[in-house]
Amino acid sequence: MKIKTRSRKVNKAWLHDHVTDPYVRRAQAEGYRSRAAYKLAEIDEVFRLLRPGQVVVDLGSAPGAWSQYLRQRLAGRAAGADGAGGQSAESVLIALDLLPMEPIEGVSFLQGDFREEAALKALQAELGGRPVDVVVSDMAPNLSGVAAADAARMSDLVELALDFAQAHLRPEGALVAKVFHGSGYSQLVEAFKRVFRVVKPFKPKASRARSAETFLVGIGLKERDVGAGHAQAGAPPAVGTAGSAESAA
Ligand SMILES: C[S@@+](CC[C@H](N)C(=O)[O-])C[C@H]1O[C@@H](n2cnc3c(N)ncnc32)[C@H](O)[C@@H]1O
Repeated sequence: MKIKTRSRKVNKAWLHDHVTDPYVRRAQAEGYRSRAAYKLAEIDEVFRLLRPGQVVVDLGSAPGAWSQYLRQRLAGRAAGADGAGGQSAESVLIALDLLPMEPIEGVSFLQGDFREEAALKALQAELGGRPVDVVVSDMAPNLSGVAAADAARMSDLVELALDFAQAHLRPEGALVAKVFHGSGYSQLVEAFKRVFRVVKPFKPKASRARSAETFLVGIGLKERDVGAGHAQAGAPPAVGTAGSAESAA
């Protein structure tokens, strides 16, 4: 009984936030599939990771707001989810999710579980050996409410994204991954620091203050971690206000 009352309160609070949230309204007005687009937009504004011509992988892409934003940036457009024109010729955007995703022009979508070998193989086949400039991961497990179990599942997904980035990024490439503050967070920061030269935690304004989510941004593979992209170095992403030397969380 008590649990029911609490969950009703939580639902009411969520509904109130959703209806009054300026990012929800903005997403509706600008044609984004969710307000999540503005989290990635803020990260991109600060770290200047995206530009036309890049190869980008979007992990945990459904319903598709990040893919919509990525597509515009790769096409050289500033804003608006459904503007005219397509991806520029050389840009590649591959998205993956457990769930189906409505098609987006210029996005190659793969449905699969990133924890499974089959999904990894499908991603690699789609990449066809091309080194990746930016990997973004907004993957989050379905929350059970058991904090330790949820944190472990989240860490598992982030570590897999980190392994993928390490193996497929160009030397100057970048990984943006959603993480939860709490159990396992500092270990993830350490894992990022073992792989990347620059590691920054970033909580976008569009991420609700009471949400435990935050994002880790890793830029530039450390020498020993330079993987598939080693042979074909491209222009390094400019590190914005946040970037200089070694970083700390
Ligand atoms: C917060 S949503 C992503 C929202 C998305 N970035 C957007 O802008 O629309 C998290 C997504 O992660 C996906 N996900 C969770 N675990 C996954 C897994 N093991 N493999 C692939 N996708 C996963 C979920 O299905 C869900 O769609």
